[in-house]
Amino acid sequence: MKGINYFQPFSVDINLMKGIMDAPDNRVVRTASSMRGHYADESALEKIIREQGDPIHYEVFEKIMPQEYGHLCFGISRLQPGLVGEECFMTKGHYHSILETAEIYLCLGGEGYLVMKTQNGDCAVEYMKSGRLVYVPPCWAHRSVNTGEEELILLFIYPAEAGHNYGDIEKEGFPKRIFKRAGKVVIE
Ligand code: F6R
Ligand code: ZN
Repeated sequence: MKGINYFQPFSVDINLMKGIMDAPDNRVVRTASSMRGHYADESALEKIIREQGDPIHYEVFEKIMPQEYGHLCFGISRLQPGLVGEECFMTKGHYHSILETAEIYLCLGGEGYLVMKTQNGDCAVEYMKSGRLVYVPPCWAHRSVNTGEEELILLFIYPAEAGHNYGDIEKEGFPKRIFKRAGKVVIE
């Protein structure tokens, strides 16, 4: 059609087993020190940073898309297994800046949970394992948590205009945390 500025179609290769995207435009690396303020046991996190040399906590591989209505953003997140004290490794979590935007997570490997929260305090927790898809509806903050022994590998897709708001959920916190005690997953 005349007048439309057509975006060129493209393809991306993803190693589903390893959770690596070939030629990402952006690779975000979050190390343990970037997680300060998120875990219940702050001194356990400091010990990891001190004794393990600030190890990688999670990575996000993504293509950079025009941040405008109509496009989709997508990528892969790879969250390491481990505990901070008794709490399972997790991502920071965020609301979308345009709150009324949803997201889909498809688990490609590992196991864990997606913890979600609304601004009125409702909380939901969905189990993830390879082959399971979680729908995050508009207006829910979301965080992934690795409760397994392997890396938790997730494919995510969301509207490109959504943006990320980390500040609000950082102040509010998620109502539920996920721990491992004597090998058992405890959500409280
Ligand atoms: C995008 C999205 C994921 C997360 C990723 C890392 O909207 O939800 O790609 O960005 O799981 O988590 P955060 O961004 O909370 O550090
Ligand atoms: Zn999101």
